[in-house]
Amino acid sequence: MKTLKTCLSGIALSVACATASAGEVEVLHYWTSGGEAAAVNVLKQEMEDAGHTWTDFAVAGGGGESAMTVLKSRAISGNPPSAAQIKGLDIQEWGELGFLTSLDDVATAGNWDSLLPEVVSDVMKYDGHYVAVPVNVHRVNWLWANPEAFKKAGVEIPTTWEQMIEVGPKLKAAGIIPLAHGGQAWQDATTFEAIALAEGADFYRKAFVEHDDATLKGETMVKVLTTFKKMRDLIDADSSGRDWNVATSMVINGQAAMQIMGDWAKGEFTAAGKTPGTDYVCVAAPGTADMFTFNIDSLAMFTQSDDSRVQAQKDLAKMVMDPKFQETFNLNKGSIPARQGMDRTPFDSCAHDSMDAFTVSAEKGTLVPSMAHGMATSSRVQGAIYDVVTNYFNASDMSAEDAADKLARAVKATL
Ligand code: GAL
Repeated sequence: MKTLKTCLSGIALSVACATASAGEVEVLHYWTSGGEAAAVNVLKQEMEDAGHTWTDFAVAGGGGESAMTVLKSRAISGNPPSAAQIKGLDIQEWGELGFLTSLDDVATAGNWDSLLPEVVSDVMKYDGHYVAVPVNVHRVNWLWANPEAFKKAGVEIPTTWEQMIEVGPKLKAAGIIPLAHGGQAWQDATTFEAIALAEGADFYRKAFVEHDDATLKGETMVKVLTTFKKMRDLIDADSSGRDWNVATSMVINGQAAMQIMGDWAKGEFTAAGKTPGTDYVCVAAPGTADMFTFNIDSLAMFTQSDDSRVQAQKDLAKMVMDPKFQETFNLNKGSIPARQGMDRTPFDSCAHDSMDAFTVSAEKGTLVPSMAHGMATSSRVQGAIYDVVTNYFNASDMSAEDAADKLARAVKATL
């Protein structure tokens, strides 16, 4: 039992004050890259400082597909963790299955409805009740560039996809891989959706949120797929199966000039001690300035029977929404806080750009949910899009017209 003396300082201790009963919290997640591990350690440390036991259940594999497979088998066998990194529309699917527990008491006491943008709080609720807590807001439509590589090749960092294709030969001639990419379906989809977004937020929504058949197989989608295929000429022959953070390290060490990836990539630059604007440059993915593809990481809470575990879950949720945690976690993770009204001073220029783009895009109607990261559509439809997009990207004989047709049919078949 905690004495009065130890209850007088710090976030963790403020939580410990409230509870004074230690519980175990097991968290299943896929934050295993260097920058991500540093971020999740912040939470682990704070929970342990509050007297709880953190059991880490990390499942490697960017994008989280393996983690979700493991989670499903644990849930089906009646042994779900206390909390899991579940995001976007998956929260609705798990809510529907009856696995998740309400956090309404923590949310009401913590004023979450007024602290969170509606686009964020909506994602955290099932049937009007909070069942998850947001740790961040990631922007997905970023281009990460190594300025030295561009200087060496005598070319500019592209702002359009046409320019992206044009600078390729010059970078190659200078012995630099133009685009660092990992040949995995979710990474292919991350680049594909950024090219689609450049055609406008309305087009993007029609395709990936409304699943409009004419849009999915239409002329503009054929144009998007044609541009997407040209990215193949910019990536190296060894990209197949490469993890995203390995691709980021190629940009960090100058082997490659650029990467299209969400700002979890920035966590790797930070972990490598790199400075934005000097060692690397962050710009909106070509053609998507003032647009923002959001991906919100969240921890969803599974129903527990043991009181101390229930209390530990509530403490975890409270701690995640604490300003200090939102700051420290996101400084490491590369994302921006989900909580509004945070002090911007500790954050760097890329985070400031993300914060501004979030506000501007919300006003302009160009804030869109990431399809590649589970915010726009169900995991079934996302899986169908992944399959068509990655098969097309790796095929040598499929035309963009055929791919668009396949995309529309595959989506229709899963609706
Ligand atoms: C996303 C996740 C990010 C990051 C990324 C790479 O889906 O939301 O936090 O982990 O995958 O694994």
